[in-house]
Amino acid sequence: MTAVRHFLDVDDLSAAELTEVLDLSAHTTLAQVLAGKGMALLFEKPSARTRHSMEMAVVQLGGHPVTVAAAEVGIDQRESAEDVAQTLACFHAAIGARVKSHRLLERMAAVSSVPVVNMLSDQAHPLQALADLLTVKQEFGEISGRRIAFVGDANNVSRSLAIGAGLAGAQFVISSPPGYQFNGVDLDRISATGTVAEVVDDPVYAVAGAHVVYTDVWVSMGEEAQASEKIDAFAGRYSVNEALMGQADADAIFLHCLPANPGQEASEEVLYGPQSRIWQQAENRMHAARGLLAFLLEAS
Ligand code: CP
Ligand code: NVA
Repeated sequence: MTAVRHFLDVDDLSAAELTEVLDLSAHTTLAQVLAGKGMALLFEKPSARTRHSMEMAVVQLGGHPVTVAAAEVGIDQRESAEDVAQTLACFHAAIGARVKSHRLLERMAAVSSVPVVNMLSDQAHPLQALADLLTVKQEFGEISGRRIAFVGDANNVSRSLAIGAGLAGAQFVISSPPGYQFNGVDLDRISATGTVAEVVDDPVYAVAGAHVVYTDVWVSMGEEAQASEKIDAFAGRYSVNEALMGQADADAIFLHCLPANPGQEASEEVLYGPQSRIWQQAENRMHAARGLLAFLLEAS
């Protein structure tokens, strides 16, 4: 048996494997690789899209999802994260976890005999990036050469998107206020994909000529203590409104991972306007999850 494949961020896949996963995601009928099997889904934070898309992807592959609030399991309280992972692997063909600390996923993956899938951590949101790239592919036919402009925080969503965009051969530019930009480690990881991310302050520069304009909340789950300081840093200039969208390519689309704060990081007109593809993007969470699970379970 080959080594078990985990998915903690998009660069756990090679560029060719990312293409394969996106191709698989386009197929609604796949081999029932989870027939008679389960997948454990653990949540330390709230979720709408991730829980539902993962549960339905598991069902579509013939399996049974078991969703549990992590507090109920008592990770590192009732028993260690390592013992939780090894226990769940006794019953399930894969484990998904949404965690406060990325390190917890690494500890589970280090001992798990079944694939561990990151359903969002403080560092990464790779399932979201797969759905985002699938949406770009559906809209433009190919991802390579497209210019993806992210306006906002250098966070879990933009980090995984930058890595995925790089692997897929897209251009990636992010505009964030000083103090909220990618650090050297992030930039090295993105460069390792073969694409150099552009990091700028100016959202107008970032969006100019872009095919995709993307934003996310300014205050992520778990950052509530920094809310007022972050809102002060982003307010006004980093809000995607119709004027900013007007700087993008005439055929540009707008994406947001959701949930959104209408009127904050994006105006209502943009979020629900003609260039927005947020519902297609949300649906793609399920298709991308199905494609990824099919790939991981075939490969492991
Ligand atoms: N985009 C996303 O992950 O949504 P949820 O937090 O609702 O799962
Ligand atoms: N950056 C956001 C994404 C939510 C899907 C957060 O971590 O809260």
